[in-house]
Amino acid sequence: MVAKPAPASLIEYPVVESRQVGAYRLISFVAREIAASAIPGQFLMVRQAGPSLDPLLPRPLGIHDIDSDLVRILIEPVGKGTYELVRLRVGDRLSVLGPLGNGFDPRGGGTALLVGGGIGVAPLALLARSLTASGRDVHCLLGFRTRSQAVSAELFREYYVKVFTEDASVGTRGLVSEPLSACLADNAGKRDEHATEVFACGPDPMLREIARIAEESGARAQLSAAAHMACGIGACQGCVVRTTGGYRRVCSEGPVFEAGELIW
Ligand code: FES
Repeated sequence: MVAKPAPASLIEYPVVESRQVGAYRLISFVAREIAASAIPGQFLMVRQAGPSLDPLLPRPLGIHDIDSDLVRILIEPVGKGTYELVRLRVGDRLSVLGPLGNGFDPRGGGTALLVGGGIGVAPLALLARSLTASGRDVHCLLGFRTRSQAVSAELFREYYVKVFTEDASVGTRGLVSEPLSACLADNAGKRDEHATEVFACGPDPMLREIARIAEESGARAQLSAAAHMACGIGACQGCVVRTTGGYRRVCSEGPVFEAGELIW
């Protein structure tokens, strides 16, 4: 899939849905242009609309899902920018730039294994929707620290989902990467188009482990990397990661990379 160029400036949209999903806030707004052009795995730069310059910078948020013209984002309050966003209610306004970044690039026709950790599950719902529509078998492995985050697994109820929590409060105790080797065990020897592909988003240690397991099993894995972002459009160099092809900007050359490209 090839990403189209995003609009050059922030556009305001009114919030039409704002609800708590465990530890996260689900916010929806109507944005026909974003809904029509977004690729799963792309992200938006988002801030509360209005004259306040504090916080000044929008925050990068993965596009969680799209339903007709409705665009959804899932937010974990972790800093000033995101705390402002989770306070938004229906009728409040968001300023949004995007869609940005490259997005996931599914290739084969085999099972798609979607692996999310914590708020890293956010961009996987749109990917699950898109892969299911294209006839792929979608399996989701979703991992969380505890129950309040694991509530967000309800957003994936249309799909085959296994939930893992570190404290065993929901689903199976353990890390979401632990069952991956078994899931990929019968991958060896399959022709490319029937092989399982892995798509993952989550904290760095989880992605690193997935990259290791994918390499061991010969599976293709695409990882959505996280980085602190200021501009979101490739201008400030603040989001670079080391890859086998040199330093790359997560915002404009990512956030999705082949697992073997990232140097940890
Ligand atoms: Fe500025 Fe990526 S956030 S270059």
